[in-house]
Amino acid sequence: MHHFHLLKTTKVAKETNDSVNIAFEIPPALKQEFSFKQGQYLNVRFLAGDEDLRRSYSIVNAPSEENGELEILVKHLEDGRVSTILNQQLAAGEKIEVSAPAGHFYTNHHVSNEKTYVGLAAGSGISPVLSNLKEALYQEPKSEAYLFYSNKSLHDIIFKDEIDALLERFDGRLKVVYLLSREKHFEDELFEGRICAPKLDELLDRFTDIPVREATYFICGPSEMIKSVSGYLKNEKKVPSLQILYEYYAAPDDEENAEMSDEFKAIPNLESMVTLIIDDDEYSFHLNSKKNSILDQALNEKLPVPFACKGGVCCTCKAQVMEGEVFMEKNFALTEDEVERGFVLTCQCHPTTNVVMLNYDV
Ligand code: FES
Repeated sequence: MHHFHLLKTTKVAKETNDSVNIAFEIPPALKQEFSFKQGQYLNVRFLAGDEDLRRSYSIVNAPSEENGELEILVKHLEDGRVSTILNQQLAAGEKIEVSAPAGHFYTNHHVSNEKTYVGLAAGSGISPVLSNLKEALYQEPKSEAYLFYSNKSLHDIIFKDEIDALLERFDGRLKVVYLLSREKHFEDELFEGRICAPKLDELLDRFTDIPVREATYFICGPSEMIKSVSGYLKNEKKVPSLQILYEYYAAPDDEENAEMSDEFKAIPNLESMVTLIIDDDEYSFHLNSKKNSILDQALNEKLPVPFACKGGVCCTCKAQVMEGEVFMEKNFALTEDEVERGFVLTCQCHPTTNVVMLNYDV
């Protein structure tokens, strides 16, 4: 479960004009709860009057790094209330509410592996991708990594200094190609624009020397980039699904009004008794299938349910169906295997049977 703890910030440093790098001090009593895997995220919470504002931010570090700190990168969004507080008001030494690391955007490593990892990142999507590439390079001395990273301009490249230092440290085992979407590259157009399927085809052809099918890919960026490159890798290059890992920054724009989808309209209109198991306690309420999502209704009932994005992206609201059936509108976070095992994102779920029981404790 996602319990929040007040953590002291040890660093709040401008990384680029519109992003900050925030480090937290983890007290000894929370060390185990805050141990993390590469590519995981933290949820941050602010209470503003009656409002409970929560956002997810990816961890930047790799577990094997020496400094042992826990850092996140927060990009300032124009209308983002939490990102504005974190970028413009927070100072080092202040405490904020943070929940333990979560997420499954990672693979396991072994010292004897001799693999190739390819990171595809856009803007602040660099955080979980870099965390994964670093961990692979630390854990697997015979593996190599490529990073194809797109930004608007040279000044917008996040973690440029760190990436340069990593290039030196892993001498030859890490290769990095930057792409800039708003700057002209007079010698080669390949380095202009965003990462998309045709560009990836050329990048892989020109910069890597292993069969495309054999690498493992970490992708984080806007939805059109993820759809384009993951579709290309899977359908055209026949890369096995387990080797294509991706994480969305936010719900894809074209999915925003998904509650009006034909599938949602087709679910039966019924009254359901919904029971939720949260921290070994059971809570029940009535819910009409066409009204609120199960998460929204649980929040209306003031139940201690975990959540962050409410958009089907972060996976914080995950629960397992123990009884009955639900309709899940969107899912950008659960794997096929998790869905088969009955896991759902409760921010996207509506009951479709008269009795539904979901367990958040699994
Ligand atoms: S709250 Fe983020 S997926 Fe449901």
